[in-house]
Amino acid sequence: MERDIAEVLLSQEQLQTRIRELGEILTAEYAGKNPIVVGVLKGVVIFYADMIRQIKVPCQMDFMRVSSYQGTQSTGKAVFGGKMSENIEGRHVLILEDIFDTGNSLNFLYNHLIQKNPASIKICTLLDKPSRRNPEITLKPDWVGFEVPNAFVVGYGLDYNEAYRNLPYIGILKPEVYAE
Ligand code: IMP
Ligand code: MG
Repeated sequence: MERDIAEVLLSQEQLQTRIRELGEILTAEYAGKNPIVVGVLKGVVIFYADMIRQIKVPCQMDFMRVSSYQGTQSTGKAVFGGKMSENIEGRHVLILEDIFDTGNSLNFLYNHLIQKNPASIKICTLLDKPSRRNPEITLKPDWVGFEVPNAFVVGYGLDYNEAYRNLPYIGILKPEVYAE
């Protein structure tokens, strides 16, 4: 795994420091609101597990799967692969995501959840890659861990063809790996 990484972009220490900072912000934001914290599988799992333990208020956990059709990116089409177990009507929803890239998948998820009349929906993404945003999408993450350059990143939950999710840091994948 390690030899496929061109560069460590975010070390374990950098990730944990930023997650503690975000934790303080989210703890203040959600005090007394009993939020439903929705994770977008699978990429978010490691971030979710670390982030949720820094949100020090009562909350519920839920998960969804959303895959975007990369071939038809501009249409913003995406598909759900899972159903939430919690009823979100009148509730505060916090979406946790690994990376906000084109924005298509989160835009789709947001538009789906907003129809269920939650009290609020906000988005916290570990990584933001604004250079790749679909220009038709106006939705923005409310909190961003790190802005990343336009490179393919893996590790800490993020994959390339389902590999590298268990790397403890976030690294830039060598271009020759995905050119193979
Ligand atoms: P979006 O709909 O283009 O914003 O897609 C976001 C999803 O694509 C993320 O949740 C990731 O699963 C995946 N993704 C986007 N960029 C990367 C990357 O650099 N590495 C790994 N996965 C990525
Ligand atoms: Mg994802």
